[in-house]
Amino acid sequence: MCGIVGYVTDPASATPGALDVVLEGLRRLEYRGYDSAGVALQIDGQLWTEKRSGKLARLEEALQAAPPAAASTGIGHTRWATHGGPTDENAHPHLSGEGRIAVIHNGIIENFAALKAELAAEGVKFLSQTDTEVAAHLLNAAYATCSDLTEAMRLVANRLEGAFTLLAVHADVPSTVVGARRNSPLVVGVGENANYLGSDVAAFIGHTREAIELGQDQIVTITPAAVSIIGFDGVAVEGKAFHVDWDAAAAEKGGHPSFMAKEIMDQPQAVADTLLGRTDAAGNLVLDELRIDESVLRTIDKIVVLACGTSSYAGMVAKYAIEHWCRIPTEVELSHEFRYRDPVVNARTLVVAISQSGETMDTIMAIRHAREQGAKVVAICNTHGSTIPRESDAVLYTHAGPEIAVASTKAFLAQITACYLLGLYLARVRGNKFPDELREILGQLQAMPEKIQKVLDGLEQVRTMARWMADTRSVLFLGRHVGFPVAMEGALKLKELAYIHAEGFAAGELKHGPIALIEPGQAVFVIVPSPRGRDSLHAKVVSNIQEINARGARTIVIAEEGDTDVVPYASEVIYVPQTPTLLAPLVTVVPLQVFACELATAKGLDVDQPRNLAKSVTVE
Ligand code: F6R
Repeated sequence: MCGIVGYVTDPASATPGALDVVLEGLRRLEYRGYDSAGVALQIDGQLWTEKRSGKLARLEEALQAAPPAAASTGIGHTRWATHGGPTDENAHPHLSGEGRIAVIHNGIIENFAALKAELAAEGVKFLSQTDTEVAAHLLNAAYATCSDLTEAMRLVANRLEGAFTLLAVHADVPSTVVGARRNSPLVVGVGENANYLGSDVAAFIGHTREAIELGQDQIVTITPAAVSIIGFDGVAVEGKAFHVDWDAAAAEKGGHPSFMAKEIMDQPQAVADTLLGRTDAAGNLVLDELRIDESVLRTIDKIVVLACGTSSYAGMVAKYAIEHWCRIPTEVELSHEFRYRDPVVNARTLVVAISQSGETMDTIMAIRHAREQGAKVVAICNTHGSTIPRESDAVLYTHAGPEIAVASTKAFLAQITACYLLGLYLARVRGNKFPDELREILGQLQAMPEKIQKVLDGLEQVRTMARWMADTRSVLFLGRHVGFPVAMEGALKLKELAYIHAEGFAAGELKHGPIALIEPGQAVFVIVPSPRGRDSLHAKVVSNIQEINARGARTIVIAEEGDTDVVPYASEVIYVPQTPTLLAPLVTVVPLQVFACELATAKGLDVDQPRNLAKSVTVE
């Protein structure tokens, strides 16, 4: 939530100016929050600021109408409002010291009310309703005592509670941006004659792929020639350098009408890249990065998967696979529920934290709680340098590349893939009795990118149907076994993108209540398991289709190629390639993503930035 950019360059070098770099960074970070935006630039010993409520385009219009002079140092912010509505006044930067200091912030300062009262008693006048303005005034007061922006930031950071990334520039401290981070993301980009700060690497990927991870409770100071980091205790620390393995083109639309459309099409690659390099020449699974001792993994007697939203549905798929392959009891829990119910977790529990962003505060708090109880944590994450991998015992990165559209698609498929790899690995480590079966599944997993591509190549029927259904007011989704989380995800995509009421159910639950919702014309997607499955699930789901069909529903069935049993009862059948049951979500969810995206587009909605949402939910 909220995107932050900072930039300093040597004014004598040929590097681009601050306004261009900061705006480019904000464009790439706009997915993090898009209800207001602002910039502050150092120009001739003064600070120049502009900010606007609304999308970044409004700020850009204002800047075009009245462009500032050239600058080599600047900060910029794109906001998802927490304290104070999305108005021009509440947009960042916030100023203090008669406009000589400017601050931007991501997070929530939990003790802001007490600090604000203290400042007000000293005569400080507030111009906004934000918690951030408190930090600006504190920083001004601290700078007045020490005349050192880094030290002033350190003093302020030690007074704040909650989650914050702060960036500040001061008119009296040329070519310098200072940042602080606690519980909110901030990474450093290292360039030539220029350095960068960003909420994530997308902010500067157009300029450098060399980055430094900042740790918890650290202050960073960038100048054109140097990056220096200290802890909140003032002690110098070494940041962890890393190379970003994707480039600016990966963060562009590449000719697609939206990031969402592109990311859906990227899915075969996302799955292939997540599998890449994780098998040896003999076809055996190699997960070197899972740095938890195998002897520890052998003692695990329970797995708890923690995640939110779409990532939690990947976790539900993981449960089916892990329990089947490893015979370890596996629970899936929403991170925000887990922590507050006194869960039974101990040193024999393995927690699997799934997060695209690596910055979801609910999941961060949940893994902290689990580790305090002695559990080991494996993160499945798409974002290098983010908090969740850093605070976990091991990490299995998904290699989906940057996911810019706010609603998740390709990261979901990559998460499911990583969960399969983890399940297969645990099965091997714990001496699964069926090594041939596991090797066969690994082979089938390698074939999935091609099958996903085949689904994507044949979706004209889904697109046409979505356009016809643009006026639909309610859609239900039914699935069983791994089709259940797919149904939940199908419903979530439709809610998020098209603002249509949608619900996902376990098909077996139908007769326990939801069938009362079925009336003539009600649209119902049904995800049908393979008829080649080892039990009678297929027949049961076909019976469900008959039941809702008999009550006049419009049934849209997702079935495996060759399944003719569903045809008599379906208004539409969307076929996907034959796939082993546990791997089927990788193909069955794709038509649902495309349906939601197409329908929302037909309604004229912005599929990349749906209303009220932000890409990473960095507050609880
Ligand atoms: C839905 C969506 C969200 C996220 C959830 C968790 O399309 O994107 O439900 O899945 O907010 O986010 P991460 O995976 O970043 O922890």
